[in-house]
Amino acid sequence: MPNRPFIVGNWKMNGIRAMLSEARSIDRGAARHPDVRVGIAPPFTLVLPMAEDMQAAVIGAQDCHAKPSGAFTGDISAPMLADAGAQFVIVGHSERRAMHAEGNAEVRAKGDAALAAGLEVIVCVGETEAERDAGNAESVVTGQVADSIPLGEEVASRVTVAYEPVWAIGTGRVPSVADVGAMHRAIRAKILEIYGEGGAAVRILYGGSVNAGNADELLAADEVGGALVGGASLAADSFLAIVTAASGAGGE
Ligand code: 13P
Repeated sequence: MPNRPFIVGNWKMNGIRAMLSEARSIDRGAARHPDVRVGIAPPFTLVLPMAEDMQAAVIGAQDCHAKPSGAFTGDISAPMLADAGAQFVIVGHSERRAMHAEGNAEVRAKGDAALAAGLEVIVCVGETEAERDAGNAESVVTGQVADSIPLGEEVASRVTVAYEPVWAIGTGRVPSVADVGAMHRAIRAKILEIYGEGGAAVRILYGGSVNAGNADELLAADEVGGALVGGASLAADSFLAIVTAASGAGGE
């Protein structure tokens, strides 16, 4: 089922071992929806115990270093994540772009490192509110896609793009379904330009204030292949409601 929707929970800097039971509940729910691929990206400290626990859900991380090892105090490499049982890594989240000054070239290097370690990559892109107000949202986002996704048609099957408008993250504000569809179509066109036909299989997730109430309509927008969920992924009930909505949507 290559086109089954991918619903990913990004736990950000939330979660201690007491939250493993919540992850187990998510995993049991994921098992009830085999037509949806469910992922959780916990903080680094929970990657190993979660990966050991999960039956149906896949576990990933929220970032990695571009180098496989070395004198990089405090950093975690892609091979370390693979060794801990991660299957994917998120790179280029806007919180890292903004708070850690990560640019497109660094994001691409991290994605390349993740692929080299055998992981899948979720590359995040998204415009700020000022960029949208200035009418530049589409050029900013397609520019980020062009400059930060890993290159080479052979890697396309392991790349996912997540469109997360910065102004929609954690704010309760979401773009209109029409705006989501228009942006996802523009991202698809750029991906096809980069990867050729192989780009047709790349999932494009929407992220930014996705919740049980709006998931249905956001997932039905053009070219939306799933969701990257922050706040609503921290509780099994709210996250599984989104998984259920994706199950109803039945794919891209
Ligand atoms: P929220 O769902 O909390 O808005 O976060 C979205 C996000 O940044 C996921 O990566």
